[in-house]
Amino acid sequence: MSGTISAVNRTVTPGGRTKVFDVKPLLKMRYCGNVCLRQKSEPIGEIGPSERVLIEAMIEKMHQEKGVGLAAPQVGINQQIFVVDIGLGPVVVINPRIIKRAGSEWQEEGCLSVPGVTVNVKRPKEIRVRYKDENNQEVEQDLFDLMARVFMHENDHLNGKLILDYASWRERGRLKKKLEKLPEKEE
Ligand code: NI
Repeated sequence: MSGTISAVNRTVTPGGRTKVFDVKPLLKMRYCGNVCLRQKSEPIGEIGPSERVLIEAMIEKMHQEKGVGLAAPQVGINQQIFVVDIGLGPVVVINPRIIKRAGSEWQEEGCLSVPGVTVNVKRPKEIRVRYKDENNQEVEQDLFDLMARVFMHENDHLNGKLILDYASWRERGRLKKKLEKLPEKEE
């Protein structure tokens, strides 16, 4: 999920993201239209050295892109992992499950894979989640507000779902023009 404040103001050059600081890109962003974003991701087994390299690279990429969350399919990897940082430090989420939902709330969401677009999305306000962290520890937590929202947004990515799927038909028409200008439709 792109930053709640920076979502609209994020600088996206017409040709795509700026590459000034991106000297050695380890992971490449995938944009709306890419098949990876529409596939279901596979659960991950034991976290070992190679998974830790991926985790570090994903955290770096999320910060570089000024996102509050980044899911593996957004960098072309269909595995059940995402990272979140709402300003309290990075959280690594593996094989997530939402086991309880309560309340509901509308909020504008952006997505790094759908640059320049925001959609008003209705989601539960509170959730109880289970997942595995980067140390293979099982975690059960109650999440609220922004953390809950980002968790659900990233979890959607693992199920091949994008914010566009929440847009009304009227809204989709409005978004269509913007989507045509996305840096990369397919690869
Ligand atoms: Ni997203």
